[in-house]
Amino acid sequence: MTFESKIRPIQWVDGHSRMIDQTVIPYEYKYVDITTGDQMFHAIRDMIVRGAPAIGIAGAQGIVLYAKEGKDKYDNINDFKQWLLEKADYMSTSRPTAVNLMWACGEQKKVIMNSTSDKEGLIKELTEKAVEIEFDDIERCKKIGDYGAEVVPKGATILTHCNAGALATGGYGTALGVVRSAYANDNTIQVFADETRPRQQGARLTTFELAMDGIPVTLITDGMCSYFMSKGMINMVVVGADRIAANGDTANKIGTYTVAIAAKYHNIPFYIAAPLSTIDTSIKSGKEIPIEERSHEEVTHINGKRICAEGVNIINPGFDVTPHELIAGIITEKGILRPDYNKSIAEVFKQS
Ligand code: MRU
Repeated sequence: MTFESKIRPIQWVDGHSRMIDQTVIPYEYKYVDITTGDQMFHAIRDMIVRGAPAIGIAGAQGIVLYAKEGKDKYDNINDFKQWLLEKADYMSTSRPTAVNLMWACGEQKKVIMNSTSDKEGLIKELTEKAVEIEFDDIERCKKIGDYGAEVVPKGATILTHCNAGALATGGYGTALGVVRSAYANDNTIQVFADETRPRQQGARLTTFELAMDGIPVTLITDGMCSYFMSKGMINMVVVGADRIAANGDTANKIGTYTVAIAAKYHNIPFYIAAPLSTIDTSIKSGKEIPIEERSHEEVTHINGKRICAEGVNIINPGFDVTPHELIAGIITEKGILRPDYNKSIAEVFKQS
């Protein structure tokens, strides 16, 4: 059973992209219109839109915007296609870790390569694909939610890290999709949300969207999870993913690995919730996942104010990799994958 969210972070409206500006939530709730491919590249890089599935949708829409801009530059369809393929490759570099972005840009490249239409026809095909990716993601998330709800104990307190909710996807959520579907069956469940330094996606986004939907949520700082686990106050952990290797190693927001270790120590099941488009079967293990290094200012400043001495050294990886041994299950739209992940992942792709 599903519990709909009112949030649609990115939509294709009147021939362009409209997205919720996630950099200003919860102070403001406003939409931004994106009308060029370069604007989309920057919206992804600057995290106006963020979250693995949502930036996949954004990348697909960005390629449509490039196609609309480029159509008058080229008379010859093959030159137009070649230029567009280069733009699709460029779009896929706007952020490095979440593989959904590369996957969605790859889907658009297939449309470009397989098309036999003229320029207008190709733009129509790319638009249809972008809209399909957007709506498909909502359906996948609902399935993830329903499979995940089956392993949520009655009255559970679920810990999550970062934002893997409606804001991070087409509009239902992966980890928060599990929460939404579980809540539809049992309104005694509740969420503990890690603040998620440095960008505070947990504090700013997860609490915002759960509060909007009336799902009980308690905000904690990142260092508190072991304390609440030791008190028996957390029953399970569900987080999203940015990229999952063929052996189940999973990249997600920095700090996820720490939560997984704490969960293992306290015998609390730690689940990943993600669509199959987040699984990168081309890489054997998490060692091959590129980890984004973000601006030092995210660490040195809070709300524009410096919080540390001048001249200190800063390192700011945006993601970490949780080893597969710490993961109880990967909740996908095709069911819950269990260890041995090399086998269960290969099997699910064979069937898809
Ligand atoms: O840097 P962000 O905010 O894009 O990172 C987002 C996350 O790490 C999410 O947990 C992940 O993308 C899963 S979203 C369904």
